[in-house]
Amino acid sequence: MFDHDVLIIGAGLAGMRAALAAGENGADVAVVTKVHPVRSHSNAAQGGINAALTDRGDDWKEHAYDTIKGSDYLGDQDAVSIMCMEAGQEVINMEHMGVIFNRDEEGRLGTRAFGGQRRERTFFVSDFTGQALLHVLYEQVLKVGVRIYEEWFLLSLIVEEGECCGAVVMEIRSGEIRVIRAKAVIMASGGLGRVFEPSTNALICTGDGMGIAYRAGASLMDMEMVQYHPTTLKGSGVLITEGARGEGAYLLNANGERFMERYAPNMMELASRDVVSRSEQTEINEGRGINGCVMLDVRHLGERLIRERLSQILEIARDFANVDLLTEPIPIQPGMHYQMGGIKTDVNGQTQLPGLYAAGECANVSVHGGNRLGANSLLDTLVFGRRSGEHAAEMTRTKSHKAITDKAAEGDRSYIQDLLDHDESGDMFGRIRMEMGQVMNRYLAVYRDQEGMEFALSKVRELRERFRLVHVPDKGKTFNTNLMFTLELGMMVDCAETIALSAIERKESRGAHTRTDMPDRDDENWLKHILVKSTVDGPQVDHLPVVITDWEPQVRTY
Ligand code: FUM
Repeated sequence: MFDHDVLIIGAGLAGMRAALAAGENGADVAVVTKVHPVRSHSNAAQGGINAALTDRGDDWKEHAYDTIKGSDYLGDQDAVSIMCMEAGQEVINMEHMGVIFNRDEEGRLGTRAFGGQRRERTFFVSDFTGQALLHVLYEQVLKVGVRIYEEWFLLSLIVEEGECCGAVVMEIRSGEIRVIRAKAVIMASGGLGRVFEPSTNALICTGDGMGIAYRAGASLMDMEMVQYHPTTLKGSGVLITEGARGEGAYLLNANGERFMERYAPNMMELASRDVVSRSEQTEINEGRGINGCVMLDVRHLGERLIRERLSQILEIARDFANVDLLTEPIPIQPGMHYQMGGIKTDVNGQTQLPGLYAAGECANVSVHGGNRLGANSLLDTLVFGRRSGEHAAEMTRTKSHKAITDKAAEGDRSYIQDLLDHDESGDMFGRIRMEMGQVMNRYLAVYRDQEGMEFALSKVRELRERFRLVHVPDKGKTFNTNLMFTLELGMMVDCAETIALSAIERKESRGAHTRTDMPDRDDENWLKHILVKSTVDGPQVDHLPVVITDWEPQVRTY
């Protein structure tokens, strides 16, 4: 058994920012991560990070307004204000730590335009901003002596007397199952993109943290709000950054028209993501697409700008679609990208389960509401990662460990043995995972309706029954990825169920949740969050009012 003050699950930007903050505040900190830290999915973030810097004539309130409007008024305005107020300092901290941001002609930190914002306030490192931030944070985390349990897999949270006091984890290399005691646990395990197929998310984004926190008693909030990014590659779903449109790229339909003129005459390609994705899907549905896609055209931006600021997508287009962005437009389509919902937290990362914090994509502080602005997710990871780390370090100063022993792992040991004992009659994980991903992508995508969502829910429940008999052919202990992927699938099915349930519950259209059978936003009845909690009788759905401070809901146009 191992002991730490603060245990962090996940080594992406939220986890590492939390680890750094907790370490700098005197806590003994450990991070458990199922992949090497710099392979975390934050690595794939391309376009940038938003902040309103006053020396550019910008104002955090402008950023907050754009964020709240972008969220279709579902974001909690107290949380959004904190994020936007603290954004500038967080970007400057990262620059001081060593992130080499792109610069403007005068040598100052450069900005690019991003969707849903009336000003350029997105700081960036070409189109691999996440990777640049992640590597620098990893250095800092090593410097403060954080213990990293690398390639260890979270199995469950330990809850004693209503408090989270550690975790059960599996060392992937040896298959050994171990208990880590902690005075506070911060879940920073990332998103659940792979509950949908395809997705821009890495294969590791399987909703583990959301699923495990949910099973341990934490509520998931706004799970119906699933973001479809407007520019993903057909088939593979690989992300083509919004930074391309930020730099001036066009979206074209089969007739060569910049169709966004019809849907968002002021912001055009830089309307918020839900609006652009819906517009593309409408073009495709009404027969003005090309093989289920529309085209993204960057040619007029010129080779120099493309090579300097969009170098990664130049390679992606060539390697994954055999397209040379310098000479031809690329086919793209809306694709699952981000889960706005997640483990409900307050602005210090505390969940409803004492001792458990959450930060980053697995969390829902409620800064994104119904639709996240591009480049606000890196910001969310850093601001609320830091705040969680600081708060947890402070909280653990006067706390002692609970008296738990290695016995806390017995439930997980027998669950795994039971999985390994299943005979060959069951499906293997891959078949269930693919069927689930496809059904989610069909019925819980850009446009939804009652019948489709109900079908998806019943299918997910059928898949859960099949999962009970799932077959794990590899019985070994060393790097048993077959077992690990099967364990992930258990969490994915729970996440899928909460998404479908919440979507059916919301009887209106708001943000990314667009129902063809209920096309209007209904503030009178639905200006509220939907929560799902796991109970012995199954998922229990509840509601919570949205926090409104300065910005009353308005009609949303771009
Ligand atoms: O398009 C992008 O570069 C994605 C950014 C984001 O999701 O924040």
